[in-house]
Amino acid sequence: MKRVLSGIKPSGDLNIGGYSGALQQYIKMQEEYESFFFIPDLHAITVPQDPKELRHRSKEIAAFYIAAGVNPKKSAVFLQSQVAAHAELGWLMETQVHFGELSRMTQFKDKSEGKDSVSSALFTYPALMAADILLYQATHVPVGEDQKQHVELTRDLATRFNNRFGETFVVPEPIIEETGCRIMSLDDPTKKMSKSNPNKSSYILMLDDAATIRKKFSRAVTDSEMSVRYDPENKPAVSNLLEVYSVFSGEEIPVIEKRYEGQGYGGFKKELAEVVIAKLEPIQKTFHEIIDSEELLTILKDGAERAAAIADETVRKAKTAMGILTF
Ligand code: TYM
Repeated sequence: MKRVLSGIKPSGDLNIGGYSGALQQYIKMQEEYESFFFIPDLHAITVPQDPKELRHRSKEIAAFYIAAGVNPKKSAVFLQSQVAAHAELGWLMETQVHFGELSRMTQFKDKSEGKDSVSSALFTYPALMAADILLYQATHVPVGEDQKQHVELTRDLATRFNNRFGETFVVPEPIIEETGCRIMSLDDPTKKMSKSNPNKSSYILMLDDAATIRKKFSRAVTDSEMSVRYDPENKPAVSNLLEVYSVFSGEEIPVIEKRYEGQGYGGFKKELAEVVIAKLEPIQKTFHEIIDSEELLTILKDGAERAAAIADETVRKAKTAMGILTF
């Protein structure tokens, strides 16, 4: 049986990078896999969060899942904090992961750089992420490129645990789409598109309105060559726009290149904005319809129950294997 587990942190306004690298994959994969899509709120609090905002953002991520096409009848959608086994297995995994391994995680290096102090949970975060995945015996984990290192550590931990304590966990595979797994900033194609960029025009938010999206794409940096061609090495900015176009239109990059052959960037950028708007508008409409609904909370409750049934069994198995007295 193929099983998928993945999630998006409720730590900032969702941008189209998260959609491209993660969410759009969830929608496709739920047709073929037994699916668990969660909201990693316990991960969000590894950096300071405003409690009121965190509550709202957690619902927002759930609403984005549903609005983008995650079907709660097929997939379990739930909050990490509602399934206690995450924190419990997270602790057990902390006892297995090495300090040196955690020290090598690039996300920790990026997020702690230049800060006077960071929480110890930011450092041990990958142990909790491993627990998230291993609890469900997930065979596949769809993520963007930036999470690859964490999934690889999860594989190492699962293998180590199985060797030490006997076969307990499925060793999961990351699923990273070739196109759209690393959407870059619109103002600098060497940086990942991220809400932490102070330049608001550098990212497109899932809730940006049409006028804002048009303005942001019109300002996107390109190059002086004036040809719409995919060449990430020599034309990183245009290649990034082509990836966005491909993800949002569902067309292959060579088809798009052909359409704009011999043309400059003006028309391409204008039409790219329309492609993104066409995809986002229905998502935004459904998002607004469900964000404050009782139905959303019911989906989360139901999802947590379905998730806990599996997660509780796994954590019990892991504890027993480790010699924790369970009765
Ligand atoms: P997070 O919340 O930072 O990002 C959510 C997902 O979106 C992808 N992503 C991107 N993909 C392409 N281009 C971008 N610019 C971009 N920005 C974000 C991320 O790779 C990710 O797949 N640690 C995880 C959350 C997590 C998780 C898990 C994921 C916790 N436990 C278990 C999978 C399985 C994170 O911080 O992702």
